[in-house]
Amino acid sequence: MTDVIVVGSGVAGLSAALSAAETGARVTVITKASLTLTATDRAQGGMAAMTSSLPDGQPKDSVQLHVQDTLVAGAGLCEPPVVQGVVQDSADAVRDLTDRGVAFDRVAGPGSPWVQGLEAAHSVSRILHAGGDATGHAIQEALSARTRDAAAVGDIRLMEYTLVTGVLTDGQHAIGVTIRPVLSDGQLGAEEFLAADHVVLATGGAGQLYPYTTNPEVATGDGIALALRAGAEVRDLEFFQFHPTALAAPGSFLISEAVRGEGAVLRDQHGHRFMTDVDPRAELAPRDVVARAVFAVRTGSPNGAVYLDCSTIPVPEGLSRAEFLARRFPTIDASLKAHGIDWSTELVPVSPAAHYHMGGIVTDELGHTTVAGLWAAGECSSTGMHGANRLASNSLLEAAIFGRRIGELVAEPWSGAQRASSSSDSERAPHEVLRPLARSRQEQEPPTPRQPSGSTDPLHAAEDSALSYTGRTAEKQIDPSPTGSVEPTESFSREALQHTMWQGAGVFRTAEGLEQAKARLEGWLAASSAVADASAPETLADAENRNLLTVGHALATAALARTESRGAHQRADYPATDPLQAVSTGWVAARSVTP
Ligand code: SIN
Repeated sequence: MTDVIVVGSGVAGLSAALSAAETGARVTVITKASLTLTATDRAQGGMAAMTSSLPDGQPKDSVQLHVQDTLVAGAGLCEPPVVQGVVQDSADAVRDLTDRGVAFDRVAGPGSPWVQGLEAAHSVSRILHAGGDATGHAIQEALSARTRDAAAVGDIRLMEYTLVTGVLTDGQHAIGVTIRPVLSDGQLGAEEFLAADHVVLATGGAGQLYPYTTNPEVATGDGIALALRAGAEVRDLEFFQFHPTALAAPGSFLISEAVRGEGAVLRDQHGHRFMTDVDPRAELAPRDVVARAVFAVRTGSPNGAVYLDCSTIPVPEGLSRAEFLARRFPTIDASLKAHGIDWSTELVPVSPAAHYHMGGIVTDELGHTTVAGLWAAGECSSTGMHGANRLASNSLLEAAIFGRRIGELVAEPWSGAQRASSSSDSERAPHEVLRPLARSRQEQEPPTPRQPSGSTDPLHAAEDSALSYTGRTAEKQIDPSPTGSVEPTESFSREALQHTMWQGAGVFRTAEGLEQAKARLEGWLAASSAVADASAPETLADAENRNLLTVGHALATAALARTESRGAHQRADYPATDPLQAVSTGWVAARSVTP
């Protein structure tokens, strides 16, 4: 028996696990790969944070300014109190991480101010980084070391190479998870049930939906798929952020926005600096604006190409450009050199790539999902922080803060009170789940634990998962039928799925493209249900593909329903932002509305 199961081992998961263990809870951390194979480990730019330690001469930051920048980027869908709370807690988050061993870069020696970088859509330089451009790696290393130390003395049980296949409930409350070991050949071992009072989903994103992504191979939407099967509400899945500058070459990787923050510019194949034609903020316009411009230049002509030009970066006296770039961006420098590119003298070809999923599992400001005992943090969650478009370097911050909040709460005897409230909730008639799930941010209340309907037999709950969704926008209800428009399609492969998503639900979307993508995914879902027991995939790849199909289908459905362009969701057939759609749209799995 364990008190708390944490699924995922990035900054959100390990912050939750360490905080809970420090408070005395029995914690199990489960990850389907090694502890350190996470998106956190790849994060380059840094962590946006309010700190009092600003070098002389820099414009002063304030909570209000950081909140304002976040709300503007979020395009009307952030929850202002959540943003305010996270920004206010940011100094504590920095302190926590430094206490756990993260050495953020300082201007001079110990005790000197933090180095603070500038990134797109930030009014002032407020991005802390570590190891130059290896911020996420520094955080992952420190938290992983602490976790392994805690595991060595029995404070945390660590289960690597273990896949969570289902979150089980007793009809009212999460009671544990089903797990299967991931064997060295990728096959899955026998299923076991692991009981716990609390389950925390911190599984990261779903970048593997797309062929071009900055995410690691483990980013297969597992948390959202698990939450949907458990009857939890998700929202805003149409909002997927595309980063403007991944290396446009096989084995692509992220070239941090901080490079543009230092002064690099974007040029087309004729050498023209096109961003000044697009937005007065040029290369430091919000990420979605730059990504769309890069995409348009690349696809707008037969030889369309975009390059990052680093010759415009001011170099401190006494250093050559090559020395400065290697010192400020060691990770990118090494990766580009491995690709044979000398970025101190050569242009770097870049392309947009899927980067961050703003949509996710609905939580309140403490990390509760709509299922009692089930919590979510980090990229798989939707806390209200990021809205329709995340501000650069706000993700490590949000993940660290929500991880810690959850860790502290799950370790409290407070969980008894939570159960009491969920049992009265269980008396609700099933049709109450049909309440419209879209409401304006102003009207929103923190989600209350709600009874997941469907099977109440915990060992069969995961099998009972239908893979279509119902939801309501302010105007209309979506057809919940998953098979209504099934079209025969090419046989399934990960590549075919990614191609379908890029074409139909990528940087620019249309109703026609989304319909096609949705129908194709429905065909694959129906075929996979027909040939295999969804709860018992043979291999890790099968399980991940099923999760990707679930999330991709939900994303396409949500994108079709949002008939406007807002933040990262750009509809070529609805290019304007519609003030009437300034609402967040929640979705639950279709089985949750079946009495
Ligand atoms: C970057 O370094 O450009 C990415 C930072 C982020 O996604 O917040």
